[in-house]
Amino acid sequence: MSQALHAEIAGIKFDDIFLNASGVHCQTTAELDELLATKGTGAIITKSATSAYRAGNPSPRLSKIPLGSINSMGLPNEGLDYYLDYVTTKQADKPMLLSVAGVSYTENLDILHKVQDSSFMGITELNLSCPNVPGKPQTAYDFETTERLLTEVFAFFTKPLGVKMPPYFDIVHFDDMAKILNKFPLAHVNTINSIGNGLWINEDTDTVVIKPKGGFGGIGGALAKPTALANVRAFRQRLNPTIKMIGTGGVVNGRDVYEHILCGADLVSVGTQLQFEGPSMFARLEQELLAIMAEKGYTSVDDFRGQLKIIE
Ligand code: SIN
Repeated sequence: MSQALHAEIAGIKFDDIFLNASGVHCQTTAELDELLATKGTGAIITKSATSAYRAGNPSPRLSKIPLGSINSMGLPNEGLDYYLDYVTTKQADKPMLLSVAGVSYTENLDILHKVQDSSFMGITELNLSCPNVPGKPQTAYDFETTERLLTEVFAFFTKPLGVKMPPYFDIVHFDDMAKILNKFPLAHVNTINSIGNGLWINEDTDTVVIKPKGGFGGIGGALAKPTALANVRAFRQRLNPTIKMIGTGGVVNGRDVYEHILCGADLVSVGTQLQFEGPSMFARLEQELLAIMAEKGYTSVDDFRGQLKIIE
């Protein structure tokens, strides 16, 4: 725990700013337990839950590539009851976020009704951005459906709710999506999910490196950092200050974390690097971030959050 690294979302206090990106090291209770016990995590988030167990896409479905990863996992998960049971019964001294992802409009509503009716009082994150379910486009690329869904959700959902967004690549899209999100009492916006539907080719065999969708998959890791920073920055500039931000994408070292905070992140989540380095990575990131802050004379993340300089 560090006094310097703290955050608050929906009145819930975080004693550190790091968490796993949903999808990495969070499918089983054993993995979640390990993350809770890990030095440096300020919170944990579950694998995105669908209503029932899903095996996900065929393997190989995740591959390391130079400067990152490509994946098309296809939402393998143990089902909502499994994760809901974990976050309602586990005694934890860190906040536990519940990630959910219906593969249809109505499944999203059904899942959130179940969470609303449960005893879970923590933060739920609605994943609107999984690029890897064959035949199912990412909800958040359909602006009209996103607004309709959030309108229906907030008609009954009274608990803290955030959304996980895909990357956007156009200023008008930042403007338009921020206008939609600002209509709702969101606890947070988490940006970005992987950069959807990239392709990587093995030079020796001229073959794609993952099996699902003919090799197309979400890109994560260092390759994603500029896009992630742009999305954190763009949304922080446009969203109501009451909506907090989780920065995700391209974090490999403490400097990357520092830059996410400069762009406005309250919490920072890590996927690809956690996948390949394991949970001990969090203590390293924390040390590296604190060293940068000490060098610059900052004693708290509040001293530089959102303070990115531009060239006038
Ligand atoms: C997956 O399970 O395919 C990854 C989850 C996501 O990108 O939202």
